[in-house]
Amino acid sequence: MKKAIISGVTGQDGSYLAELLLSKGYEVHGIMRRLSSFASARIDHLIVGNPNFHTYHGDLTDSPSISGIISEVKPDEFYNLGAMSHVKVSFEVPQYTLESNAVGVLNVLEALRKLSPHTKFYQASSSEMFGVPGTPAPYNENTPMIPQSPYGLSKLAAFHLTRQYRDGYGMFATTGILFNHESPRRGGTFVTKKVSKAVAKIKLGLQDSLVLGNLDAKRDWGWAPEFVEAIYLIMQQEKPDIYVVATGETHTIREFVEEAFSYVGLESKKFVRIDDKYKRPNEVPLLLGDASKIEKLGWKPKMKFHEIVRAMVDYDLAHPNEN
Ligand code: NAP
Ligand code: GDD
Repeated sequence: MKKAIISGVTGQDGSYLAELLLSKGYEVHGIMRRLSSFASARIDHLIVGNPNFHTYHGDLTDSPSISGIISEVKPDEFYNLGAMSHVKVSFEVPQYTLESNAVGVLNVLEALRKLSPHTKFYQASSSEMFGVPGTPAPYNENTPMIPQSPYGLSKLAAFHLTRQYRDGYGMFATTGILFNHESPRRGGTFVTKKVSKAVAKIKLGLQDSLVLGNLDAKRDWGWAPEFVEAIYLIMQQEKPDIYVVATGETHTIREFVEEAFSYVGLESKKFVRIDDKYKRPNEVPLLLGDASKIEKLGWKPKMKFHEIVRAMVDYDLAHPNEN
């Protein structure tokens, strides 16, 4: 039985990846942070009565906790999905963002090098590493990266650490540069879930308006369960490498908002207000990815933009009071 550690197992991707690996017969070990309130809603259904699923308290910024789990499990695969993943918040907590998303990755790589060098390592890289206005799109593995946020910078540092451990120590240290991917499990402060939840609540008479920031930015939005299949595929290759994972289609935030409102028969302009507090000091105006390299391995996105919007709104209509 193969053993995998997932950092960030309580997050959107971590929960889908845990399900995928369990369905493939893995023993899955998930790292969770201790919080003052429960944060395990996305994996509660896995914790109860599942002999192949184990959880540990740990934090990427706490090196002893990470090396302790690695030396105990000696996993075949380590998926590093844990991160302070909110771009706007990273401007407010830049030091912590770098500590968890960059130094945290160093902590994992060093622990693997010393304690479990046979382990394959996957780093969750991000399209937010791109971002220079005017760069010709779509972006691929060779597009220059000049990040526009502390989050993007932290992910670029981690991307290069992964490369250094791959090239310098010969470790299987691989990475996917994932463009935005969404699902009903998306955190409520990201724009898609904020919109789908608000549209559902407005439709049900539980909310009367939706306040947003920049509606002109464009994002390449995919479906998270499909994107974790790409993560798994990247890890199963013979050699570590770099892969862009994207749909190749881009839409403005405004289009997402209009699609969601019109799906429930409402006009967005009656409910949406703009407040600068949701805007960022620096913005990435356009994200559009070219996934042809991973598509050669057999991965292809299936869910279309309007299907993603509708699936999220449908879920929130059925669960309006869920966080
Ligand atoms: P998410 O829902 O925000 O989940 C992030 C996870 O990381 C949570 O489990 C969180 O724990 C954990 N975490 C945060 N700080 C940590 C720390 N210091 N030590 C250990 N764990 C920590 O993010 P996601 O959407 O699933 O994304 C997964 C990964 O892919 C992240 O690294 C993200 O940056 C990256 N990524 C995401 C996208 C996307 O569009 N979703 C695109 C590109 C890259 P708590 O539950 O305790 O907060
Ligand atoms: N969050 C948020 N809230 N974003 C808003 C809002 C709002 O009220 N109004 C407009 N936006 C715009 C943001 O300015 C940004 O241009 C876009 O909506 C998407 O914002 P997010 O959903 O927060 O995602 P992101 O693109 O910044 O980052 C996500 O994708 C990255 C990959 O490109 C995150 O999942 C990152 O972790 C990930 O790496």
